[in-house]
Amino acid sequence: LNNNLGLTPPMGWNTWNRYGCDINETVVMTNAEMLGILGLDKLGYRYVNVDDCWNLATRDSMSNRTIVDPERFPSGMKALSDFVHDRGLKFGIYSSAGTLTCEGRAGSLGYEDLDAQDYVSWGVDYLKYDNCFNEGIPSFERYQTMKKALEKAAHNHTIFYSICNWGLEEVWQWGNETGNSWRTAGDIFNSWESVKYNFEVNQLHPDVAGPGGWNDPDMLEVGNGGLSHTEERTHFALWAVVKAPLILGCNLNTISNRSLSIISNKELIKLNQDSKGDQAVCVHNCHSLKDSEDVQVFGGWNKDNGGYYGLVAVNWNDLESKPISIDFKSLGLTKSSEEYCSVYDLWNKGVHIGNYQGKYLIPNIDPHDNVALKIKCKRKASSLE
Ligand code: DGJ
Repeated sequence: LNNNLGLTPPMGWNTWNRYGCDINETVVMTNAEMLGILGLDKLGYRYVNVDDCWNLATRDSMSNRTIVDPERFPSGMKALSDFVHDRGLKFGIYSSAGTLTCEGRAGSLGYEDLDAQDYVSWGVDYLKYDNCFNEGIPSFERYQTMKKALEKAAHNHTIFYSICNWGLEEVWQWGNETGNSWRTAGDIFNSWESVKYNFEVNQLHPDVAGPGGWNDPDMLEVGNGGLSHTEERTHFALWAVVKAPLILGCNLNTISNRSLSIISNKELIKLNQDSKGDQAVCVHNCHSLKDSEDVQVFGGWNKDNGGYYGLVAVNWNDLESKPISIDFKSLGLTKSSEEYCSVYDLWNKGVHIGNYQGKYLIPNIDPHDNVALKIKCKRKASSLE
């Protein structure tokens, strides 16, 4: 969507993956504060997004306005939004393009203008717009109506518009003209299988994404305990390289140092936030991921830092460690096998591993682990600038 937002994938935090419906203003405020305390705001995690369950099921009978749940959010949304803004962060909210939200709160269908006005008056910066109770009306129509309502209400206050219709109704064909991101799959769950599935579906239409509009494989499960440390590393590296939104979904008050160091990886964040915004695609061993017991490589070109090739090699095998040879010529990085490339390790502060001729051999990737590399080869890199 051409509204000058989402020029790189959005980064932030959202209530849903960790808290579900069990939310209140304290949960949001403490996590917002932690973004600052842990230094995550400086790394780019700026959006603080309240998901489902912040409003009541029925509207005000006089004004038709939605009602903020007075027990969960006694100070109201403007106060919460101010709290978030005072910390240099941005405030996000949630609704559904239906009569109700998925958890049975009042949805926005038929009340788009009213709700958009409220969001703007509260200083909302991001709207996640879900798909429950949609009355069978085509998604395109319902999502366009809210897009227009947001534009009309805006008064120079543009709102990041996140389409959450779970990859249905060929959202890849209209997502980019309608919103700043669109979900490519159903809900992510706190398991390796789910991470793998959502990632695979998200790779079906890489070409439609770019600055202003992103494929969204759903929010991060790093720090929620369902993945091993190795799997959390791979989850994060994959989301980073395919330019997915990096929306945290854990309790930042209790996050472990190991999970924190994963989401704080500056090199992977730089890769994700590259100004070219090209979603990496599978470039090696690209048979169906579902059945893969191999190492697959996801790679693509990036523009910043003088231009470089970024890749993540993942070992999908559940039991065996596997080697992988990164062949520069077959990836299109060099023209002949005589040329040298410089290889940098994104999991280790971007250190220069060395210069290699023809190929770089990774002797061993553990099951479910990954290697994330930046590669610069003279010819291709300089022609990119
Ligand atoms: C379905 C969405 O896909 C989830 O991310 C979450 O927003 C829930 N609905 C909330 O009910």
